Amino acid sequence: MLLKLIILLLIQNQVQAGKVPSSSSEEDGSSEHDDEEHDRSSSHEHHWGYHDQEAWMSSFQDCSGKSQSPIDIETSKAIYDPNLNLIELEGYDLTGGPHLTLLNNGHTLLLALPNTMRIVRGFDEVYLAAQLHFHWGTIEVPGSEHTIDKVHFPAEIHMVHYNSKYANMSEAANKPDGLAVLGGFIGIGLHENENYEKILSALTDVSIEESNTQIPSFNVRHLLPNNLERFYRYNGSLTTPPCFQTVNWTMFNDTITVSRKQLAALENTLKAGQNQHLSKNFRAPQLLHGRRVLSSFSSSPSVDNRNVDVPLETEPFKRSGALGELSRGDILAIAFGVLFAVTLLVFSMYAYQQRKKHSKLKKDSRQNVIYKPGTKEEV
Ligand SMILES: *[C@@H]1O[C@H](CO)[C@@H](O)[C@H](O)[C@H]1NC(C)=O
Ligand SMILES: *[C@@H]1O[C@H](CO)[C@@H](O)[C@H](O)[C@H]1NC(C)=O
Ligand SMILES: *[C@@H]1O[C@H](CO)[C@@H](O)[C@H](O)[C@H]1NC(C)=O
Ligand SMILES: *[C@@H]1O[C@H](CO)[C@@H](O)[C@H](O)[C@H]1NC(C)=O
Ligand SMILES: [Zn+2]
Repeated sequence: MLLKLIILLLIQNQVQAGKVPSSSSEEDGSSEHDDEEHDRSSSHEHHWGYHDQEAWMSSFQDCSGKSQSPIDIETSKAIYDPNLNLIELEGYDLTGGPHLTLLNNGHTLLLALPNTMRIVRGFDEVYLAAQLHFHWGTIEVPGSEHTIDKVHFPAEIHMVHYNSKYANMSEAANKPDGLAVLGGFIGIGLHENENYEKILSALTDVSIEESNTQIPSFNVRHLLPNNLERFYRYNGSLTTPPCFQTVNWTMFNDTITVSRKQLAALENTLKAGQNQHLSKNFRAPQLLHGRRVLSSFSSSPSVDNRNVDVPLETEPFKRSGALGELSRGDILAIAFGVLFAVTLLVFSMYAYQQRKKHSKLKKDSRQNVIYKPGTKEEV
């Protein structure tokens, strides 16, 4: 853990100040070519790839900022905020409407969305949809961008919205209150996800970079988790260059599941450049730099019993201040506790005496560990 932190700090120190070229990102909906090996030697600084994420910083200044995404969401550190407004969506059911454009832009699989889809509640302003896209790995490497307690999910969906007070996505993308992204973790379930199949069944039509196809409209709401009430909220950025720090992030706690076969299709079908698989298109988690992560729900402290409703207060002594209120069980517990402590003390003193006797013979104190408290060591 500490080692990781040191490595991350070292990486941060290597950050160089760079120019800000005009470019586009997944989150702003335009399609920029990926570099990959054949372009590596070229000087086109707006070409970027996932194989060398440190290089983003020298070409795109914001990528080395202090509010970058994705992040690791440490569930025990998320701050429950009962004042977070629930997300309310309108216009997400596009069934029967015009076909939608599905695109392989070399970085991701992207579905263009009409701005009649909007988030009407949950933020200070209304946010209009622009596009959704995915991040994934390989069969061996789970490829979500955000992590939960350091753990990746197999894939992640991002629905990108822009503040309705701006004319369009590209106007909004570099404004502090410009963007709102709804993110969902995608895991593996037993059944095929019919809603995801609306997109995944067209994968072979967009296997070549820069190719696109039209797919029938459907209810886009069904791509998100059933429950939108439990989510994490934090201030972050685009997870692709130019990494603008303009995204109000919502990561849902409920996950989405697709079948193993569906996930494999996403991982194996698309190509970037001439011969490469388009996979592992996720950015490494970024440092928080003091940012807070809010949650719309309070979680029980017991991770192992998350399906059981455990009361938040587990320490009876705190509530029953006076000794007179203690139950028989409590008194017994205390009595045994004291007895145990005394026994330990006596044993320790005895052992200490023994060690003193032998210390002239044995210099190695490691062989004479007397008592070690039963706490866990964080290494
Ligand atoms: C994100 O949205 C919340 C809720 O409206 C708001 O309080 C917060 O200021 C927003 N963050 C930014 C960076 O605008
Ligand atoms: C976005 O809006 C601005 C300002 O109205 C306009 O100049 C620009 O052409 C628009 N861009 C796109 C891609 O529509
Ligand atoms: C996000 O930024 C806004 C604007 O600076 C701030 O009001 C809000 O408290 C921040 N949200 C969190 C979760 O820190
Ligand atoms: C959802 O919240 C619970 C309770 O904090 C946590 O244990 C779990 O890891 C979270 N899962 C996701 C995907 O956020
Ligand atoms: Zn994304």
